Amino acid sequence: MKLTYSLRLLLIAMLAGTIAPLSLAQTTTTAQPWMNKALSADERASLVLKEMTLDEKLTLVFGYFGTDSPWKGVTRPPESLHQSAGFVFGVPRLGIPNMYQTDAGVGVASQAGPQVRERTALPSGMNTAATWDPQIGFEGGAMIGSEARTSGFNVMLAGGVNLVREPRNGRNFEYGGEDPLLAGTLVGAQIRGIQSQHIISTLKHFAFNNQETGRFVLNAKVDDAGARMSELLALQIAFEQGKPGSVMCGYNRVNSVYACESAYLLNEVLKNDWGFKGFVMSDWGATHSTVPAANNGLDQQSGFPFDQAAYFREPLKEAVMNGWVTQARMDDMAHRVLQPMFAQGVIDNPVGAPSDKIDFAAHAKVTQSDAEAGMVLLKNANKLLPLNADIKKVAIIGGHADVGVLSGGGSSQVYPVGGMALENLGPAVFPGPMVFYPSSPLKAIKARLPKAQVTFNSGADVAAAAKLAAESDIVLVFANQWTGESIDVPDLSLPDNQDALIAAVAKANVKTVVVLQTGGAVFMPWLENVGAVLEAWYPGTRGGEAMARVLFGEVNPSGHLPITFPAAVAQFPRPVLDGYPEVKDKRFDVDYFEGAAIGYKWYELKGHKPLFAFGHGLSYTDFAYSDLKTQVKNGQLSVSFSIKNTGAVAGKDVAQVYIAPVTAKWEAPKRLGAFQKVELKPGESKTLSVDVDSRLLGMYQSKSKTWQISKGDYQVILATSAAEPQASVKVRLPKQTLNVNGK
Ligand code: BGC
Repeated sequence: MKLTYSLRLLLIAMLAGTIAPLSLAQTTTTAQPWMNKALSADERASLVLKEMTLDEKLTLVFGYFGTDSPWKGVTRPPESLHQSAGFVFGVPRLGIPNMYQTDAGVGVASQAGPQVRERTALPSGMNTAATWDPQIGFEGGAMIGSEARTSGFNVMLAGGVNLVREPRNGRNFEYGGEDPLLAGTLVGAQIRGIQSQHIISTLKHFAFNNQETGRFVLNAKVDDAGARMSELLALQIAFEQGKPGSVMCGYNRVNSVYACESAYLLNEVLKNDWGFKGFVMSDWGATHSTVPAANNGLDQQSGFPFDQAAYFREPLKEAVMNGWVTQARMDDMAHRVLQPMFAQGVIDNPVGAPSDKIDFAAHAKVTQSDAEAGMVLLKNANKLLPLNADIKKVAIIGGHADVGVLSGGGSSQVYPVGGMALENLGPAVFPGPMVFYPSSPLKAIKARLPKAQVTFNSGADVAAAAKLAAESDIVLVFANQWTGESIDVPDLSLPDNQDALIAAVAKANVKTVVVLQTGGAVFMPWLENVGAVLEAWYPGTRGGEAMARVLFGEVNPSGHLPITFPAAVAQFPRPVLDGYPEVKDKRFDVDYFEGAAIGYKWYELKGHKPLFAFGHGLSYTDFAYSDLKTQVKNGQLSVSFSIKNTGAVAGKDVAQVYIAPVTAKWEAPKRLGAFQKVELKPGESKTLSVDVDSRLLGMYQSKSKTWQISKGDYQVILATSAAEPQASVKVRLPKQTLNVNGK
């Protein structure tokens, strides 16, 4: 057949994929076969993919920053949502919507002003982990997911589950603590909640993004088995339970390779071993190449112009045209972006125009419940708490408790409805500002003590604060540690002379209650001298009210530590923080030689006595434990026991089941094997049964990619923290070999 010159050109362009086949370019999308909901997400993605040109496929794998970048002279695409994290063009002619991406873990965040969105903030991820209650995680996720949807977003960059390997990490507040089971379960539940709103959630930062110092350049050294039994296990559990549509690879390098071009992390672990079907997006500025990144598993470059180049735009097209990245891989990348858009309902339930119409009062209740369930009563000498409504003279000192509560800084920053309680605090640029939410603890406390004299003192003048303390019946001293993305804390001491303030106040009045708002663990040199300590983390939009409810016993505290509070820097696996203080662009290694022995596992292995153990948390009531029994059926270990509330008030307990091998050798003396939170009225008792994830009974074998459970005896310990066993029984387990997913 003879073709005219222009027809030939047209055909060449169509084959090269730069323009759409004629027939489809002229059709509408309503009755397209991929809109058939009876088909699987995979099938629908394949059907629409077949209709796409190369340029359209390329569109899907390239993301923009949703905020202007004046330092690069780049303005955001006008279609993106202002002050947002990301934007990816869709393919409107085929009904594929744009992706509007927002941070994330505690709510709909905004890049710093001027036009911030005012939204509901959950407490920090650390607080949510401290609830030990996946239902709370789910409900919080659903709430922030619904605000994201109303705000016009269909992707939330949430699901942070980097394990707390480094207590000084400035982002620990965003994550789920130090234990893979607890962190993976709680973060997985939050992802499920977010995606219940038909928007995609990420899981991040994949992987070993455990400190902020040198995050763009550091090389995390870790062995495969240690990795699979710690950080990767947390990510794997969150992945299984949350089924995130996307996974965000981190900034750092892992065993010398950038995480976003690591064939080991992305192709082998995530896609091959775990069977992930969605897309890997890079963190903002974490893509470093075109061909290696695409071939080693990165599916979408994010946040242009954060990276040095638009690697996944023209260069990727050139790579595909030349076969350096195969057409099949290009199709796979686009398919992976499309699959979760169908699977999560982003296409079937498109987001509407952005709106501020949110039921903030209803959402305040959700965040408040989370805060109340996650605050940890660390010490309560002589039952100083709950506060008695008859007290006459109360001193409230420090922490800006007169105006509000603290939040963590960086990309996850949610700005409060009604504006910040304080202006011009913290760094003027990212990760600042330091944001206080207008939920005043002082006001909430005063409201409960109409007849008392409640006096606030800022704590700036230690002598004046101590004088007030001496003249008061009881003292509540609020102490804060602000942490934020991109910076670690130099050590775990409270900043700004607050230790001296607390010490002076406690010396003046033994009835001193310390209320902490911190990103993670802090040292407490004054601990012996104070009456009570309540760890309130970053408690979110309704933090002040939640604190008052716990302090007055309207809510019985039930949070338990998701991290160990170490006693000294010398106890850390790395007493010196690698790369600190940061020298720009200077590369260095961080050797995670401790492998899977993280947190309580490390402290117990080394015989270090922490300040407070992982899992610790007091209540206003008491619990008694009995009937601890085990059962092994088809290799599955189940543990049952009874818990009784022996005190006078209702409360929630967290039953923690630890497993300690008698003969087998693990990375540490014991692991958390299962947990359950339970509510009990006074005098009530309940019998519970929990299953132990078999991976937590085995050692990962890299060569065979299996989990091996050694035959032998194991202690099953029912405990109220990693250091407080209540009962234990021995169980004999048969030898078992499980696949990489523990099946
Ligand atoms: C953070 C990510 C975040 C992204 C987009 C990065 O700086 O590491 O967690 O999702 O920015 O704002």
